[in-house]
Amino acid sequence: MSQKQLDQKFWQNFAKNHWEKKPLVLKNVKSGLLEMGDAEIFNLLVLYSDRCRELNDPTGFKFYIDGFKAEAEDVLQVLPEKEDTSLLGYHERMKSLFSDYCLVCDELLQVNGKKQHLLTEFTNELYRHVGFPNRFSEIGLYLGNYRKTPFGVHVDSCGVFSFPVVGVKRFRLWTSAYAKKNPALDRAFKYDKHKKASQLLEVKPGDISYWPSSAWHIAESDGSFSATWSLGVWVDQPHKELVAQSLNDLLDAKLGIAGARVTTPFKTLHEKSGEVTELPEAYEQSIALLKNLSTSELQETFLKSWMKHISLQGFKNIPRVNMKLSLKSKVRLRSEKSLILWQQSLTKKDKFFFSFGGVVVESSKAQGLLKLVKALNNGDTVVIGEFLKGAEAKQDLHALQSLTDAGALSTAK
Ligand SMILES: [Fe+2]
Repeated sequence: MSQKQLDQKFWQNFAKNHWEKKPLVLKNVKSGLLEMGDAEIFNLLVLYSDRCRELNDPTGFKFYIDGFKAEAEDVLQVLPEKEDTSLLGYHERMKSLFSDYCLVCDELLQVNGKKQHLLTEFTNELYRHVGFPNRFSEIGLYLGNYRKTPFGVHVDSCGVFSFPVVGVKRFRLWTSAYAKKNPALDRAFKYDKHKKASQLLEVKPGDISYWPSSAWHIAESDGSFSATWSLGVWVDQPHKELVAQSLNDLLDAKLGIAGARVTTPFKTLHEKSGEVTELPEAYEQSIALLKNLSTSELQETFLKSWMKHISLQGFKNIPRVNMKLSLKSKVRLRSEKSLILWQQSLTKKDKFFFSFGGVVVESSKAQGLLKLVKALNNGDTVVIGEFLKGAEAKQDLHALQSLTDAGALSTAK
């Protein structure tokens, strides 16, 4: 059977008929994310587990035994080890300890910037057709022999794509209308009498399933081992919240000390009749400041927030890099598709903003830094000192270091 391509026609149909509307199962799909085999995923898991053991901190992992969440110190004891040799080897070890377990790793792609593009190829197409998420997407790996999702039938504020890696995966879904009429479904593990009203999605490695954020769902299994990628696209942040965040940044900058005051001086609170007529001086001053805002100032603020938002590429966080820069460093972009974003200030000609991975830095007289960023975005390998020179070099190197910490660059030999 030939593989199904996720081409433009597919995405157009998906956006029109399925996104936030109804579930979908796609059999035998060609997608980069599905090309990552179980051996590769096992190696990533061990790499991430080793780091957790080193730091004595299992953040990113969750472990459930018989549906109960294990404490952090216990999670460290049950993470995959190199000696397990494979996902199934790990399962053999866990199976001998627990009859029902579930390991969730939320940050697996964080340890490996090289694999991130497999995911972004998928999400970028999705965003192009349904819009960029105002919140973010996150991907987790779920593995184990658990018979039911540890928290029962539930609904999340995200649409979910599932990509099985090992084993067959079954998801049982109900519409929100049905769940509303049958409140007993909430968190339920026993729901035999509601099965008739449900829709069952069944997927195996090579397939993809999708359900909208409104779908109540639970994963079911017969107790055999499975491993599945789950990509959640959060849809709980309306546009007005983004606008409010941008305005907040603007107010922070504009109101200064007055904006931070925690009491408001007044003459009278209200008249004898109860009527409120006096607006305290602090408000009059704020009104004057707001009235003085220029269109350029508003545009710059919103553009900067938008740039910061899209610099995360639609994810909660993106892989960080540990690398100390000097003027002698020879660097290039960590991924040719993850550019360093930038914008020119609309209010101060010489000022530029640069952004990567949710970090924004600004630089005045940034001509050297701008040339450097343009060369990097062009795919060039550069020696930093050839671009950053003179009085601004130190300030710009500092700005570049912040972008590097956020994951923008890698060293070039
Ligand atoms: Fe869920």
